[in-house]
Amino acid sequence: MAWLGNLGTTSETPSLLESIFKNVTDAILVIDDQSIVADANPAAETITGWSAQELIGKIHFCDICRGMANCIDEASCVDCFEKKLQVPSFEMRVRTKDGREYPVAASSTRLTDRDGNFLVVILRDMSEQQRMEQERFQRMMTNYVIQAQEDERKRVSRDLHDGVGQALYSILVGLKVVNQLDLEESVKNHLIDVQHMTIRALEEVKNMAIELRPSALDDLGFLPAIRSYSKRFAQTFGIETRLETFGSKRRYASVVETALYRICQEAMTNSAKYADADTITIRLEDLGDQVELSVMDDGSGFDTNEIRVQGTGLGLYGMRERAHLLGGTVSIQSSPGEGTRIHVTIPLTEKGEPLHVDPSTYSR
Ligand SMILES: Nc1ncnc2c1ncn2[C@@H]1O[C@H](COP(=O)(O)OP(=O)(O)OP(=O)(O)O)[C@@H](O)[C@H]1O
Ligand SMILES: [Mg+2]
Repeated sequence: MAWLGNLGTTSETPSLLESIFKNVTDAILVIDDQSIVADANPAAETITGWSAQELIGKIHFCDICRGMANCIDEASCVDCFEKKLQVPSFEMRVRTKDGREYPVAASSTRLTDRDGNFLVVILRDMSEQQRMEQERFQRMMTNYVIQAQEDERKRVSRDLHDGVGQALYSILVGLKVVNQLDLEESVKNHLIDVQHMTIRALEEVKNMAIELRPSALDDLGFLPAIRSYSKRFAQTFGIETRLETFGSKRRYASVVETALYRICQEAMTNSAKYADADTITIRLEDLGDQVELSVMDDGSGFDTNEIRVQGTGLGLYGMRERAHLLGGTVSIQSSPGEGTRIHVTIPLTEKGEPLHVDPSTYSR
């Protein structure tokens, strides 16, 4: 309390000023005109890692300060606040005794008393806020990427259906009309072959459009969309699929239905790729204040503590991200030989909107 002593707080009981100095959570460092620490409160000891004894009279402020920072530049010493009378708010990087560096919000004021000129620097640890801000930004970007991908799929799916699909259909009608003319048998047979090729191309375009984003998801909702996906899936992979529903069969917000559909799709694709499963069961349960989705297979299972990634490894991560963005959770239960269960929970409002969402990261 050396410096505060200069202010005349000499009584046995600490003055209000001393109590503030001792108890505030912001670090207060008093720097003399040689840039050496002249006083430090307990919060300054916590922030820097040095004790007051180690700091006072020994540590040069530049040993603690790693420069000023702004949103554009990395921390630097350009335009140092130390030369100024008062800098009400700036960001600084602090170096601790053990060599760690982290951001602090700072302010500085120059004071003069009978012993000379002092610079009072107040520091507030911002590492937690910065971590939270980075997390929030990352969530916002993830949401943006997911939405952009979904919008693009919707657009391409519609273009395929309305553009290429309609054009192929017109060709098919034209071929049929031409084939009704009085033509040689060999030409007629050739036209029939072309008609079949056109029908196959039309089917393929239709399947591609559905695979990208089924219009049933927007028009009819999650259940009809996943029902027809399961049928196609069973035919393609020869895996029996069961769909069980409990509770109301209401519609949910588009973001919720899309998330459920994509999570279900990824879980089923994983089962087909890695599990060697005979059966996949999809269970949708509406509990009023939340919707729960389980996708279970009876395949080989895997060790969830030691996942051996066989593809790009983004599927399970993507499931979690989609659920987290809507305030929900994903749990994965699996062990070798025991099959796999992916369980998703999304808390909902009465209207089927996600209940807990950060408005800054949730765009629709
Ligand atoms: N149902 C399952 N049965 C057995 N193993 C599984 C199952 N689901 C996932 N796995 C294992 O977990 C790993 C990670 O799955 P994840 O979906 O995250 O990534 P991926 O499928 O490898 O790649 P991506 O989904 O990005 O194409 C898989 O590679 C696989 O080894
Ligand atoms: Mg996968």
